[in-house]
Amino acid sequence: MSANREHFSSRLGFILAAAGSAVGIGNLVGFPVNAAKNGGGAFLLMYAIFVVVICIPVMIAEMAVGRKTAKNPVGAYAQLSDNDSKWRLAGLLSVITPFMIAIFYTVLTVWILVYLVLSVSGNLDYMASASAFGDVISSPYLFVSMIVVAALVRFILVSGVKAGIERAAKVMMPALFVMLILLVIFVLTLDNAFAGVEFYLIPDIDKLTPKVISNALSQAFFSLSLGMGILITYGSYISKETDIAGSAKLVAITDTSVAFIAGLMVLPAIFSFNPSINPSELSDSGVSLIFSYLPKIFLALETSVGYFFASTIAVIFFLLVFFAALTSLVSIIEVPVAYLIDEKKQTRKKALNTMFLWAGLLALLTTLSAGMVDYLTSLTSYGGKSKSLFDVIYDMFYDTILPLNGLLICLFVSYRWKSQNLNEELSIGNPEFSKTFLAKYTHVALGTFVPVIVAVIFIDTVARIYF
Ligand code: PHE
Repeated sequence: MSANREHFSSRLGFILAAAGSAVGIGNLVGFPVNAAKNGGGAFLLMYAIFVVVICIPVMIAEMAVGRKTAKNPVGAYAQLSDNDSKWRLAGLLSVITPFMIAIFYTVLTVWILVYLVLSVSGNLDYMASASAFGDVISSPYLFVSMIVVAALVRFILVSGVKAGIERAAKVMMPALFVMLILLVIFVLTLDNAFAGVEFYLIPDIDKLTPKVISNALSQAFFSLSLGMGILITYGSYISKETDIAGSAKLVAITDTSVAFIAGLMVLPAIFSFNPSINPSELSDSGVSLIFSYLPKIFLALETSVGYFFASTIAVIFFLLVFFAALTSLVSIIEVPVAYLIDEKKQTRKKALNTMFLWAGLLALLTTLSAGMVDYLTSLTSYGGKSKSLFDVIYDMFYDTILPLNGLLICLFVSYRWKSQNLNEELSIGNPEFSKTFLAKYTHVALGTFVPVIVAVIFIDTVARIYF
């Protein structure tokens, strides 16, 4: 273990940073969109089951591997497998995945910054109009926005994990929570909102198709920042006194609560603004759904509390979403940066420069693929659909490789590193751990049904997307 590796200042610091990584666009945009297009309650039910049954054990495993080795994913897989090149490759996949996810995540963060600026300039009417989203994703301001995002991410990352991320998350998390609750209360007072609540909370079991199940799994992995080396990397910065299992539970609860509340804000709003909507119309929804409904909520707020107050709330809201996106983006980029520092012996500065050059270039192309450059917008086609560069990266890394990485970590921990070693590591910060139900559950789940479920969903997803 490297003696001078930076550490989080406390257990709380670690939990905040891990939650800061977990809570982001996935919760506030991805979750409500997925819930809307996948039958509401059916999706919510599957999502909740996956968080408890699959994600918590996987999260514990990733954190433990990280802390045990105090290394980036490649170093960690290599160390615990006596440098077995197959497992090193699995580690490498856990570094490439966040790099690619950083690309489309940057694009979304850049859009959010543009919405923030629009809200600051008091443009609620325009933001709520049908053409706004299309304008934003092909606006030249995106380039300025991208430079600002890159500069901010770099600034946070240069100062290192501990200083930068902990501080941001400490303020942002509670503020975001309060803001979401207030908006939910407001939305629930709107006409017809309860049709949305019903759609969201009452599962219609007939809607549980393989696609809904697969989306729920990918979304749960994405939202909890699993399957891409983040928690291995963050785990490498925690001290031995930290209770890993307890921290994992708290992170999962925080992240899932934020997603749940975001859904409770967005779905009732959709039903309130379209009282005659047939829910099946939502099945093709994409992120544009959120970008058009959020401003509508603020516009409705304006009729109750006046323009100034509604605009101020909109600004604070987009600011919080933007911060949430930044803390997640920082965590995603930290993985390849840690890899370059540990394995390629680069300085932190140099690693950041390498990352920014490549990620920036790809993010630029991906931004252009959302509608500005035809060649990139209809780059290819598979599964009977035309796909942009954005779609290609999203399909491959969000829907497909995330669960694959989850599968690999289960197999690795259970059959290569071995469950006893996992248990030992988890008992360091919590001597009573091995007697708990969670310990026994984690042991059995990771070695048996979790990899089986994940493998089946992975195969189904590949077949559905690509063939
Ligand atoms: N979990 C974050 C979110 O929900 C995104 C993220 C994905 C962060 C992967 C880190 C790794 O927005």
